[in-house]
Amino acid sequence: MIQTRELTERISRITESPTMRVAAEAGRLRQEGKDIVDFGAGEPDFPTPDNIKRAAIRAIEQNFTKYTPSGGTMELRQAIVKRHAADFGTAFIPAECVVSSGGKHAIFNLMQVLVNHGDEVIVPAPYWVTFKDVVNYAGGKCVFVETDERDGFALTAAMLEPHLTPRTKIIIVNSPSNPSGAVIEQAEFAKIAALAAERGIYVMADECYCHFLYEGQPFSAASLPNAMGTVIVAGSLSKTYAMTGWRIGFALGPAPVISAIIKLQSQSTSNPTSIAQKAAVEAVNGPQDSIPAMLAEYRKRRDFVVNRLRQIPGVTCSEPKGAFYAYPNIGCALGKNDVANTLQFCEQLLQKELVAVVPGEAFGTNQHVRISYATSMHELERGLDRMHKFIANLSR
Ligand SMILES: Cc1ncc(COP(=O)(O)O)c(C=O)c1O
Repeated sequence: MIQTRELTERISRITESPTMRVAAEAGRLRQEGKDIVDFGAGEPDFPTPDNIKRAAIRAIEQNFTKYTPSGGTMELRQAIVKRHAADFGTAFIPAECVVSSGGKHAIFNLMQVLVNHGDEVIVPAPYWVTFKDVVNYAGGKCVFVETDERDGFALTAAMLEPHLTPRTKIIIVNSPSNPSGAVIEQAEFAKIAALAAERGIYVMADECYCHFLYEGQPFSAASLPNAMGTVIVAGSLSKTYAMTGWRIGFALGPAPVISAIIKLQSQSTSNPTSIAQKAAVEAVNGPQDSIPAMLAEYRKRRDFVVNRLRQIPGVTCSEPKGAFYAYPNIGCALGKNDVANTLQFCEQLLQKELVAVVPGEAFGTNQHVRISYATSMHELERGLDRMHKFIANLSR
């Protein structure tokens, strides 16, 4: 008999991603032949643009299929800083850019090189599930900062300030936010960056949805006056160019931090896939018109989803200002028919009405569910009809 030996203490500090769990359960039911409507997946339903796919095919044909430098090719690092400069007026140089195997990998590595045991990391709630786990895995302590649903979950400097201590190492900001779609106003961002700079704290700005903003111009915290040396950008090509499976993300920040991440990658994953890197060069250098086209479609869907959710008696929903998620409050359904919490709500909604959504507990709030509207209008209509029926029946 094979004996299971003890696992490390650090692996027990993290849990499997709940969003992945929902996707797996929905996939299982679909395989059984069930007609599932899936609002769980946080990925664009659009295909990767053709010019990007062709660049990858060319890379294979030209035998660009070997190791590259661990932190990504110089060609791609240059292309990323150039794109960032063109979009946001920043002045990063390639030594301040590392390419990782997805944005999640960049964030994981960042926490590994910056967080010591006992360091505090500010995590505004609701938060993207992974932040909590990567901080815990690095040995840090998450300090959660509540935002207010009545203000659309928008974070302000005044909310953060009372939570800063001499042990605070990083403030995580994610604007537009997964799961709420909240956007931090530029003036608040400037105050947050100033506060962090004053106290020697890093701001990790997860900007993986920065191009999907419904009002105003896309914006990077790195273009703020106090940003240099304080703001570290975590970026991703996954959502911007509908490239979730290609696994290309990046970090932009002070050269010593970037070098430390490259060192870590050199002893763990090595380079992101060479072929995906060539595709990424085309994504950032090539035509950008797929982004506004996707945004226009997301806007239509957002308006539809929010409107339909608000028609369900008892349900409220703040308007997402960016990204492609709605985060309705379904507190009205809790405490009825064995639905004690949002996890049970999601389980029953999936079992009874075959609609997959993610429970708010995963994101640090207990009266919400996350709906991804990165799916077709037809699916949104079907799923929201079923959700309406489910909640109405619970209330009877
Ligand atoms: C807020 C946020 N940050 C980062 C990521 C990372 O995406 P990827 O690892 O695909 O680049 C995601 C993906 O869902 C996300 O929602």
